[in-house]
Amino acid sequence: MEVGQVLHMNGGVGDLSYATNSRLQSKVISMTMPIAEEAIVNLYCSTFPTTLTIADLGCSSGPNALMPVSQLIEAVEKARRKLRKESIEYQVLLNDLPGNDFNTIFKSMPNFLEDLKIKIGPDLGPCLVTGVPGSFYGRLFPTHSVHFIHSSYSLHWLSKVPEGLEENKRNIFMAETSPESVLKAYYDQFQKDFSLFLKCRAQELVGGGCMIFTLPGRKSQNPASRECSYTWELLAMALNDMVSKGKIEAEKLESFNIPKYKPTPTEIEIEVAKEGSFVVDGIRVWDVSSNQFSNNALDGLKSSSDNVAKGIRAIAEPILVSHFGDEVMDELFIKYSEIIADRKVKEKTNLVNVTVSLTKPK
Ligand SMILES: C[S@@+](CC[C@H](N)C(=O)[O-])C[C@H]1O[C@@H](n2cnc3c(N)ncnc32)[C@H](O)[C@@H]1O
Repeated sequence: MEVGQVLHMNGGVGDLSYATNSRLQSKVISMTMPIAEEAIVNLYCSTFPTTLTIADLGCSSGPNALMPVSQLIEAVEKARRKLRKESIEYQVLLNDLPGNDFNTIFKSMPNFLEDLKIKIGPDLGPCLVTGVPGSFYGRLFPTHSVHFIHSSYSLHWLSKVPEGLEENKRNIFMAETSPESVLKAYYDQFQKDFSLFLKCRAQELVGGGCMIFTLPGRKSQNPASRECSYTWELLAMALNDMVSKGKIEAEKLESFNIPKYKPTPTEIEIEVAKEGSFVVDGIRVWDVSSNQFSNNALDGLKSSSDNVAKGIRAIAEPILVSHFGDEVMDELFIKYSEIIADRKVKEKTNLVNVTVSLTKPK
């Protein structure tokens, strides 16, 4: 599987789209936004650029693609007004892999710009938005051209499925039954990818530039602990059920693994220190209830498990389809929802999130 070519969230705005099923990610963005706002306001106030360039990496499509940028611009505009400074230009760079549904974002641009103007007022300077298709495990922007980089719920995706996962058999991610070699292969890939990510961003950021990212992580030393692998263990159960019914070939399942890694804060700090381009301003760990996938606190068990299943489907369907074909998807996710109703929703698991704030020294 060529991750860069097949990975994208479900496009459009329909019932199974990421746009409709990304409530949890939206809550995470809102929760972490005060940290990003404080960082961008400090950056603005220490340099007063006439053009402020902001990038969002792994923006996907739907409301979350433009929400962080809109809030960051609002925060800077508040500070600018308070200090009675001239209007500035904003250059907004929205990045994702080429398969991302950039069209849905572009179609929402006129409304987005109109709303921003209404919120901020007529002295809002030009906001020039550009889509940047490409992998953040490579160069995306010109040297020293970006002031502020934001990314939420994207950096846990690896550039490729790690090599050496043959013994992971009926698992699709690191699981309690995964051998040590599998855990090591995942960690090695994370180290390589994350270090390359930092190197590329260091080239692109201006001196004094900042980067704030949030990703699903873990507190436990064990990468196969439930806090980070449970969602995928339950999906593996649904896939194994399809194998036992003859709907999926066993070999197909044995050769499928999810290209993700959920690091601890320490694993992130180690890579930042090794790579050497950034100073860590802060790392914060938060818990979010995975039941936030639900539309409503009063949702019943069935509707709650359906919402969790739809949330995961919106994220994982394109890579699952590329490997297993699309004929089995409806049945797979009905089974997955049943398993979630039986196990996960009752157990009320929390998702661990890690927010990291970095500055590139001048
Ligand atoms: C779960 S979505 C998060 C979207 C949005 N930031 C949010 O918080 O709702 C993760 C996004 O990261 C993108 N992504 C994963 N790996 C990437 C890479 N190497 N380069 C660019 N984007 C990537 C995926 O395509 C996907 O759109």
